Amino acid sequence: MIKKLEDITPEMYDELNKEIEDAFEQGCHGQCASCKSGCAEPLYPRYAKALYAVTGGKGGTGKSTVTAMLALALQRQGYKTGILDADLPGATQPQLFGAAGPVRSVQRKGKNAVQPLTLPCGVGLLSYNLIEPDLTRPILMPGRDLSNVVSYLYTDGAWDGYDVILIDMPSGAGDVPLNLYSSLPVDGVVIVAEPGELAVVPTQRCVNLCGMLLSPPVAFVENKALTERCESDRLYTLPEDCVRAALPLSPEINLAGLTGTVDQLDTSGLNEVAARLARPVLHSPC
Ligand SMILES: Nc1ncnc2c1ncn2[C@@H]1O[C@H](COP(=O)(O)OP(=O)(O)OP(=O)(O)O)[C@@H](O)[C@H]1O
Ligand SMILES: [Mg+2]
Repeated sequence: MIKKLEDITPEMYDELNKEIEDAFEQGCHGQCASCKSGCAEPLYPRYAKALYAVTGGKGGTGKSTVTAMLALALQRQGYKTGILDADLPGATQPQLFGAAGPVRSVQRKGKNAVQPLTLPCGVGLLSYNLIEPDLTRPILMPGRDLSNVVSYLYTDGAWDGYDVILIDMPSGAGDVPLNLYSSLPVDGVVIVAEPGELAVVPTQRCVNLCGMLLSPPVAFVENKALTERCESDRLYTLPEDCVRAALPLSPEINLAGLTGTVDQLDTSGLNEVAARLARPVLHSPC
């Protein structure tokens, strides 16, 4: 049973990441949504039909809140959805849902796997805060190790049977996002930005980085929007087929986050984004 960070040893994630590297060497990049090979079963360890990173160029724009609301929107549309909380020192997903650990370990293919916590709304959640009982203990780890722990929570999470997993990313282009983009079979990126000119430079940088390393964003959420019209087309260079949505600056959303009741929120404003994220599930050969 994994009870604290030290229980996830470098040998464990090295062994798991070797599985990914071996598949990569054999030409499988795990990008089933865009791959034309038509193989019966991907070599890459793929536990959900679609895996998305929810990110942005600036801190505090609402990435975690939007991740939680998008997961709810997907779950409400009938897709089994999970959240992987990838911001280890700044993890907030359990608090947003009013959830507490510990998570259980289960056997998968003869090995221990971590069972995501199934929240009352049906969404599955894995977060370091569900593993570590002392939430005040500082995490002293270099970026490379932080990203290995997150990779571990994906590769050794019991995610089998999930349709969509959303990764709640730390903002920007630190070690964790860079390593995760190269080590996990991410199908696409959702960008979360605040409205206004101040967000433009870091956000466009993040959009372009994702385009360079993975693929252009599949969705752009303008969060804390002051008008119903999404400003993204005026301020940003985005692909035409990137779905745009504006989520209003709202005391209800803020309060739900603070009181751990995001599962009570109306998520209909994100339905179009959720439908876009579910597209690979409908066309999945796996
Ligand atoms: N649409 C909204 N309306 C009002 N408040 C919001 C909205 N979205 C998020 N917030 C509030 O903004 C704050 C930051 O949100 P959140 O933690 O989701 O951002 P983040 O981008 O994940 O931050 P970090 O960069 O630290 O990970 C929280 O207090 C949250 O309740
Ligand atoms: Mg966050």
